[in-house]
Amino acid sequence: MGSCRIRRTDAIRYESGDLGRLPAAIRYSTVVRMSDQHEITIRGLERRFREGEREHVVLDGIDLDIARGETVALRGRSGSGKSTLLNLIGGIDSPDAGDIRVAGVDVTALTERERTLFRRRHIGFVYQAFNLVPTLSVADNIRLVLELNGTARTAADTRIAELLEAVGLADRADSYPDVLSGGEQQRVALARALCHEPAVLLADEPTGNLDDQSAETVLTLLDKLVRSTGGTMLIATHSNSVASYCDRVLELHNGRFDRDAGQ
Ligand SMILES: Nc1ncnc2c1ncn2[C@@H]1O[C@H](COP(=O)(O)OP(=O)(O)OP(=O)(O)O)[C@@H](O)[C@H]1O
Ligand SMILES: [Mg+2]
Repeated sequence: MGSCRIRRTDAIRYESGDLGRLPAAIRYSTVVRMSDQHEITIRGLERRFREGEREHVVLDGIDLDIARGETVALRGRSGSGKSTLLNLIGGIDSPDAGDIRVAGVDVTALTERERTLFRRRHIGFVYQAFNLVPTLSVADNIRLVLELNGTARTAADTRIAELLEAVGLADRADSYPDVLSGGEQQRVALARALCHEPAVLLADEPTGNLDDQSAETVLTLLDKLVRSTGGTMLIATHSNSVASYCDRVLELHNGRFDRDAGQ
């Protein structure tokens, strides 16, 4: 398997014209992030959902610091709020109270449009159900993310080839997702999630739909690729094996962290 030359995102990769189009909060982040101590800082995070008369408190005042380059497993029973927390960190959802800083940006202070831009630049997502675009080839699934980030065509071609080589799918660039196995689809999803060198990778049960051997392959790749970029990773999982790859394990219980095995 070829090596993957992914470099850590830093201020240098933002050309001046590109930087000018970004909201101030995100432009600022590219300057401060290299000296930030924590990639993710959460204070007093609350998320509740209303069902009729009943209010369901899912996250009940969470505090969390994750260092740059750290990999963290997020555990807890079904319904404990793992996906909710990942969606809040990734700016897909908004909290009812509290602050979330990711890569130097106060995500909770951004408008919806700014959050979309922020997510596109700084976050990579991997889901249990792979979520590839079925009408696009493997290469074009990755290209889509690169194009949204303004990567030029030739640079995108190079990057796609590099990543497919890294995930062992160099010969499947023109295949469509429906002819790939689950493990292969998830490897494409990994390449897509990492193609723009995100500061933070959020993975929600990334091995939940895979057999043991495919899960092991995906995990090994995930670990290797994220660590090679110095990226920060948060994985929601029920699996002991996934947790064993991480530097730290957090357990969500009754809206709080019950146990932090790494501190
Ligand atoms: N949009 C929503 N509206 C109402 N309730 C919601 C919404 N999103 C999540 N919830 C509720 O919040 C709780 C936490 O859900 P979440 O999906 O975060 O759990 P989880 O820990 O990821 O579970 P699993 O391990 O099954 O994936 C659940 O009780 C769920 O029903
Ligand atoms: Mg979930």
